[in-house]
Amino acid sequence: GPGNGPGRDGLDFEPVRPNTLDEVVVPKGFETDVVIRWGDAVTHDAPEFDFDRQTAAAQAKQFGYNNDFCGLVPLPGWDRWLMVSNHEYTTEEFMFKNWSSAAPTEEQVKIAWAAHGLSVVQVEREHRTGKLVVSKDKKKYNRRITLTTPFEVRGPAAGSKYLKTSADPSGRKVLGTQNNCAGGVTPWGTILSGEENFNQYFANADLVTDAGTKAKLGRYGFSGKASLRKWENYDKRFDLAQEPNEANRFGWIVEIDPLDPTSTPVKHTALGRFKHEGANVIVAKDGRVVAYMGDDERFDYMYKFVSDGKYQKGESKRAREHNKRLLDSGTLYVAQFTGDSPVSEIDGTGKLPGDGEFDGSGKWIPLAHNDKSFVPGFTAEEVYVFTRLAADQVGATKMDRPEDVEPSLKNRRVYAALTNNTDRGVKPGKEGATEVAPRVNNKHGHVLELEERRSDNTATTFSWKLLLVCGDPNSPDTYFGGYDKSQVSPISCPDNVAFDPRGNLWISTDGNALKSNDGVFAVPVEGRRRGQVKQFLTVPRGAEACGPVITDDFVLVSVQHPGEIDGASANNPLSHWPDGGTSQPRPAVAVAWREDRRRICD
Ligand code: FEO
Ligand code: CA
Ligand code: CA
Ligand code: CA
Repeated sequence: GPGNGPGRDGLDFEPVRPNTLDEVVVPKGFETDVVIRWGDAVTHDAPEFDFDRQTAAAQAKQFGYNNDFCGLVPLPGWDRWLMVSNHEYTTEEFMFKNWSSAAPTEEQVKIAWAAHGLSVVQVEREHRTGKLVVSKDKKKYNRRITLTTPFEVRGPAAGSKYLKTSADPSGRKVLGTQNNCAGGVTPWGTILSGEENFNQYFANADLVTDAGTKAKLGRYGFSGKASLRKWENYDKRFDLAQEPNEANRFGWIVEIDPLDPTSTPVKHTALGRFKHEGANVIVAKDGRVVAYMGDDERFDYMYKFVSDGKYQKGESKRAREHNKRLLDSGTLYVAQFTGDSPVSEIDGTGKLPGDGEFDGSGKWIPLAHNDKSFVPGFTAEEVYVFTRLAADQVGATKMDRPEDVEPSLKNRRVYAALTNNTDRGVKPGKEGATEVAPRVNNKHGHVLELEERRSDNTATTFSWKLLLVCGDPNSPDTYFGGYDKSQVSPISCPDNVAFDPRGNLWISTDGNALKSNDGVFAVPVEGRRRGQVKQFLTVPRGAEACGPVITDDFVLVSVQHPGEIDGASANNPLSHWPDGGTSQPRPAVAVAWREDRRRICD
């Protein structure tokens, strides 16, 4: 098993073994607790959660469902933060007993609208115990954003004819955000969040007759007649036959300013529209800001945005307001990867090519700069609203579900989780193995490391290598940065990535195909232990591990959809985490810290 001697990376914990327990399992010497769970109070006037008597009015003041991304924005003073959580999606059969897809009630639908969006919660470290807790003061900052919260559309496609609906003829004001998956904290202390699988909420794509509109909807995965949740029964904007443009008002990166509770959240059209997993920003050496992004779909693409304007240092109101405009104008690029080994050496089994690495070079292909399109046949407005179709035209590289893509602030390299792609080389007509996606029927995924030319994040060329080819280390189709595979933890389906204060990469997983619960892993990217993956925690049965946050003193993990197991429902819960007994499972944020209060990376 993995070794645990001291090293410069500070990762000296004893790895957690694969398991299927119904709890959060942390290494020896660590403690864990729940910070907040579905239904807990967010605003000061929130009522007690009552599973059997839920209301939309209560849910709009309580922590939403299926929290995914988690980010911390520090408050002045010590050990106080605003914790922002995304509420990606609802699973009504777990939220309500006897829920019926055929006929949900209006109140159930409105509860689901209120259970989506984001929560802003003030948290603090409790000095007596070392745990992270929700602050008693809920009045100043705490806030819920839901599917009925007004958003301002900004950037080059604001007001586009493709964004206008009967409820919003301006094309500049959208109610709500949905399917918010991963995200990032910006250098100016706001939160970016990606609208991902928004297609699932809309009905009647099959009834759309205009061929052009139909093709665009198809590329974004809209299909069928009635939707699973039947929102179209209570708001016609979810019926594409009546409001086809409402679809175009989701699929954006949104920005929330948690420090200004009265601020209107923003949808950023300059960052393109696709199944946005999230966005992470780095300030380039010349001061421009660069956002890295993935489109989480099999055979979809990686993107980056480079701002026109430059970041202003400092926390003055003036600097912040300037920085909050940086994502309004700039250049949107899509990535093209080229392998450096002969194609004949990439045989689809994951066997390393002759040069010993899956690696190569690449370029960022510009798609649009504000009102100028670089894609033949597309106006700039069309590039921004139908980004997938524009990227299809320019030779972008098909990836294995690009999820979280995040630059390291320590080494300026960019790390991308490619979760899996069981269609590669399997589904008729789909692409086979390439050096950047070297396994057919890719069940376990891989982690890519990208280095921009001269470490300039605004560069248009880069080199890349696969840091990890995930799976069972005993299997020949895996690779752990060249590290001794007898000394690593098995890892499958990397999804979110994050960094600790020393620059080690942390990875959370979704859909572990190795018969263990999902979890959180740490791996050094520098030094002699580069590639030594160690499991830090596992989440309860049926849960996905998301949004890890690693500070000097604690680790946060979003425990999303505990108990989501075949055959389970509110009538037959198969997880009772976190409340125990016969309780219903509740998605939650959990915290882990060292009993002896030493630093996480000591
Ligand atoms: Fe919501 Fe791509 O995971
Ligand atoms: Ca190679
Ligand atoms: Ca994800
Ligand atoms: Ca991340």
